[in-house]
Amino acid sequence: MSQLILAIDQGTTSTRAIAFECTAEGALRPAAVSQIELAQHFPKPGWVEHDAAEIWNATLQTCREVVRKAGGVGRFAAVGITNQRETAVIWDAATGEPLHRAIVWQDRRTADVTARLAAEGREPAVQAATGLILDPYFSASKFAWLLDAVPGARARAVRGEVKLGTIDSWVIWKLTGGASHVTDATNASRTSLMDLATRAWRPDLCALFDVPVEGLPEIRNCADRFGECDPSLLGAPLPIHGSAGDQQAALVGHGALRPGDAKITYGTGAFLVANVGPAPVASTSRLLGTLAYAAGGDTAWALEGSIFSAGSAIQWLRDGLHAISESRQSEAMASGLRDNGGVYLVPGFTGLGAPWWEPEARGTITGLTRDSGPAHLVRAALESLAYQTRDLLDALAKDGAPPLSVLKVDGGVTANAFAMQFVADICEVVVERPAFQEMTALGAARLAALGVGLIADLEDRPVEAPARWEPRMRPGEREALLEGWRRAVKAAIIAAR
Ligand code: G3P
Repeated sequence: MSQLILAIDQGTTSTRAIAFECTAEGALRPAAVSQIELAQHFPKPGWVEHDAAEIWNATLQTCREVVRKAGGVGRFAAVGITNQRETAVIWDAATGEPLHRAIVWQDRRTADVTARLAAEGREPAVQAATGLILDPYFSASKFAWLLDAVPGARARAVRGEVKLGTIDSWVIWKLTGGASHVTDATNASRTSLMDLATRAWRPDLCALFDVPVEGLPEIRNCADRFGECDPSLLGAPLPIHGSAGDQQAALVGHGALRPGDAKITYGTGAFLVANVGPAPVASTSRLLGTLAYAAGGDTAWALEGSIFSAGSAIQWLRDGLHAISESRQSEAMASGLRDNGGVYLVPGFTGLGAPWWEPEARGTITGLTRDSGPAHLVRAALESLAYQTRDLLDALAKDGAPPLSVLKVDGGVTANAFAMQFVADICEVVVERPAFQEMTALGAARLAALGVGLIADLEDRPVEAPARWEPRMRPGEREALLEGWRRAVKAAIIAAR
């Protein structure tokens, strides 16, 4: 009987476990799935927290359910993990209990810290070392906040009594019964504390952010052995053999393994990750330099553009504005209009990410007239996905990244054909959506399968053809639309300053 990989995808809004079957041809096919939603806590404006204990309980529950559905733990060869990145967890090494709620990547509470460091002129050095700009998005200032908030935590972290980590570290610690305090290099590359070239923690950056290096996990490559599951949890000491941050895992899931390959995942936010090859590229266009993966002797680097609001703009249309009652209504409403009527929505609900990096920006609507109705707002929200993607692709081109032949997409919004055609039109690129959508979990499964020796490489072996959208808009029309978008972004930025 073929062997299975247990992939854990711990995301911002849910925790999922998927069993993948490894075929004789080296392809991975989904065999069972289990999912539990995750509660979001917003204790103050701009603050977003998760309960790390709830995350662990959901992880264990979904894994147990998938193992049961797939016919028992004996069929599984290894575990692969992928996770929401940057989210910071602090826990007690002796009890294995969280010492505070986790601070989620979207949380802006440490904006004053990163603004002060930027005002002190620290950004060029931080960017040169880590590939990241100074922004509260990344983990370092969140770790420091947690160490300040929990009495005595900093001194205890130095003594090894308190542990810090991103969600992967937390889940691996719990799965191994406290035996492994480890992370993978893609997650570490999102903390602002890892040297991108050496893939080791930088003592000078740990000092700058006031995070003791003793509290941080050991950094490993993505298909290394991360430890063995405590046999009392799933019934066997399954090896954990793959781990990567969710956006990097999705790149692997798409099989975007060559320079010029790129994917964008439209979830709550949207994350464009472009493979730039075997050497890091320093961005001069406010993109992030990051590790794509390091596995099986191969290392690939990436440039990333992070958009903070994508699917959340559609959720706002439904839950905030009540312009639609179901997300899928948005397609018919948008296509029912002849054009956008000059209405633009800049979805800066939680600030603007790349390439603008305006944490204080807010959602902005421009171009309203007496003719504007709910459908114009719906269309403007869908169109904003394409405009934001275009801004990122322009920044990529300025950074000298290899030109894209195809843009691979995944995530909930990609079910919307109007939005995908508009991305192709505005970005002047062929858009491809794979038939199987769980690219993130697939990437983690592939890394684990490679690590444990079930497959020989990370190549994609899809059975079904992808959906494709070709650009077909006239250049004049595209330019006019982009001009309107640029004016709207300018208005959002002016209002924020
Ligand atoms: O950088 C944040 C990202 O990793 C979150 O992804 O899919 O959990 O919203 P997602």
